[in-house]
Amino acid sequence: MRKITVIGTGYVGLVSGTCFAEVGNRVICCDVDQRKIDLLNDGVIPIYEPGLEEMALRNKSEGRLLFTTEVGEAIEASDIVYIAVGTPMSETGEADMRYVMSAAKKIGEHLNDHKIIVNKSTVPVGTGELVREVVQANKKYPWTSFDVVSNPEFLREGTALSDCMNMDRAIIGSDNPEAAEQIAQLHAPFNTRIFKTDLESAEMIKYAANTFLATKISFINAIANICEKVGADVEDVAKGMGMDSRIGEKFLQAGIGYGGSCFPKDTYALAHIADKSGYDFELLKSVIKTNQRQRYVVMDKLRETLGGLAGKQIAVLGLAFKPNTDDMREAPSLTIIPELLKQGAVVRTFDPIAAEAARKLLPADVAYMESAELAAAGCDACVILTEWNEVLTMDLAKVRDRMKQPIIIDGRNSFDPKVMEQHGFVYYSVGRRPVNRLEAERKSVNL
Ligand code: UDX
Repeated sequence: MRKITVIGTGYVGLVSGTCFAEVGNRVICCDVDQRKIDLLNDGVIPIYEPGLEEMALRNKSEGRLLFTTEVGEAIEASDIVYIAVGTPMSETGEADMRYVMSAAKKIGEHLNDHKIIVNKSTVPVGTGELVREVVQANKKYPWTSFDVVSNPEFLREGTALSDCMNMDRAIIGSDNPEAAEQIAQLHAPFNTRIFKTDLESAEMIKYAANTFLATKISFINAIANICEKVGADVEDVAKGMGMDSRIGEKFLQAGIGYGGSCFPKDTYALAHIADKSGYDFELLKSVIKTNQRQRYVVMDKLRETLGGLAGKQIAVLGLAFKPNTDDMREAPSLTIIPELLKQGAVVRTFDPIAAEAARKLLPADVAYMESAELAAAGCDACVILTEWNEVLTMDLAKVRDRMKQPIIIDGRNSFDPKVMEQHGFVYYSVGRRPVNRLEAERKSVNL
């Protein structure tokens, strides 16, 4: 049993803290946000993540998981202090390090004994050293010592608990083998592969891994756009590519582009780090540009199919950046919906979980419906932006009968085109042949 404090009860802090408690440690999760801590102490989990509520509340009631705003006291009562605060994207694309630095200052002020300070937030290379300097400069008791370790997270929203409990790897970066070994032991119950390295390499691994995955997505999206022009099918292309074990089949799902809290932020941040280090990372800049353009590839298909958007009623199915989360950060819907409204469309939406979060971010004249079938009723077209199970299993016959015209533009390749053809939809997806193309358009293509 280790005594751990996790500073920051956002997504990463809360999931990691809960999992550390689940394997028997005593964990104090702290935050400066009193409202959030009050909610957690009242048994309300402020984010939607499958399984988290049950696991967090069980560990809380068994006394292994505590929530407080008393960060200083929590630090003093722990041997290991995790920094899991946000590093949001600043206006210049850099990671905003304000919260990491204030956590480091607080740790220095409350360093009453030897502690291992572990950074879980995604931070630019060199931050570990900076944390060391800030802690050192703010030490209240000069005789105290500490180690700094980097232990980046690789959790995916929607599957974060199982990702954490069955991690495929734990990256541990430190210049002190003893501190690294202690953090390795902390991970023993997760039955994972441990990779120990130096501080800077661990920090770099997080950026390199995320931007590589983002590159795979932009690459397959670019291939999809070419497939449409040459008449190939991107799903077969991805399958054939993925059969080469050097490439692998994962993260080759073409669509409307990546969103979420990590890929957009980390791609910008690494491009910025590279620029600052004197290397022009053109490849990564293209990945970012390709991702931004992909939103409009789907949007253009909709506009062209309908011959303009003014006065058209559009159903947007899915608002979150991906299924099984209410996270709206960098969600394609945040670009697409304002654009639809700007071009004169009327927008009705459906999202089983993220509607409430979306309401705070989207223009007021957006309607939120209880089901995909209700959202589609009376619409000129449906656009699928998130492949929620509720969308994949919607009653296609009902949707078709209720729509003004049965047109679906699928930004996530959620359906088999043959099935859509049988149901009589005009169906456009990404990198696959359209079915039941509108007659007018077919003629103009043949001309
Ligand atoms: C990601 C990483 O997977 C995780 O390791 C990291 O630490 C945090 O960022 P997350 O953002 O939760 O996790 O979602 P992920 O499932 O990776 O998807 C990211 C985005 O890429 C989503 O918008 C998703 O729709 C999109 N995506 C993913 C694709 O468009 N195609 C794919 O093949 C895979």
